[in-house]
Amino acid sequence: MSAGPPISESDETALATVRRIAGLRAAVADWRRAGLSVGLVPTMGALHAGHLALIRRSRADCGRTVASLFVNPTQFNDPKDLRAYPRDEASDAALFLEAGTDLLFAPAAAEVYPAGFATQVRVAGLGDGLCGATRPGHMEGVATVVAKLLNQVRPDFAYFGEKDFQQLQIIRRMAADLDLAVTIAGVPTVREPDGLALSSRNLLLTADERRIAPTLHRALAAAAAELVGGGVAAGRPAGPVIEAARMAILAAGFRAIDYLELRAEADLALLERAERPARLFVAAWLGNVRLIDNQPVAPQAA
Ligand code: PAF
Repeated sequence: MSAGPPISESDETALATVRRIAGLRAAVADWRRAGLSVGLVPTMGALHAGHLALIRRSRADCGRTVASLFVNPTQFNDPKDLRAYPRDEASDAALFLEAGTDLLFAPAAAEVYPAGFATQVRVAGLGDGLCGATRPGHMEGVATVVAKLLNQVRPDFAYFGEKDFQQLQIIRRMAADLDLAVTIAGVPTVREPDGLALSSRNLLLTADERRIAPTLHRALAAAAAELVGGGVAAGRPAGPVIEAARMAILAAGFRAIDYLELRAEADLALLERAERPARLFVAAWLGNVRLIDNQPVAPQAA
């Protein structure tokens, strides 16, 4: 395969970065002319090993990898949360480069949402519960910006982490419903050795909160093991198991739980028993930081 033509806004040691949609499209068109396939990894920066796993998957599957870095204001329902979101483009760019990203798309807000912007993408059903219910407007903000990114890059594959499983399912549905010619690939959650799911929000935890945070995963894993005890077909009632997990999370020092629910993987329908492939989903507050996680209840298909 040809290495593809160079991108004008780069030098040899820095990550090639474009801030305008026109520059992005020109670079991708050059790759297409060279016969290269394209993978997209959308991010809001504050990179961790979970993001780098997405880049690695894209590099394994595709000839070229574009990452986007855009802290999308429309998916923050709380302005304080948007202000507190960690931002460090220089260190993110270094990590993107090291992981093998070919091009970074880092637009300003006005490039993504120019004056007069008026469209919103809403995925009914899948987007209504979980974070859709507890963070009004969040899922619409995600679906809208991802629809735009998919249309701007027109990748063959786009990669999303399973930690945001509801987001992943919404994006899959949206891509199918809008006939977008892209494969949406889910990548398993990357965890710290103590089980805490990697998240940009972990940077906001105090030392004490960081010590408590892995309880979330431990409680979900214990509940999931109990629900499949005796085989998924046994379909144990989830209520008491979820209640025990809730007590464990609050007793550890979390101050509130937005949701802790068993839902079907395919359509995110609320379940009372794990009678089909399902996940436990949680969102809980540790001080001022809202953490989310999920845990498969049925064994995953290989
Ligand atoms: O998962 C995220 O980081 C964001 O929701 C995404 C997909 C980059 C859209 O802003």
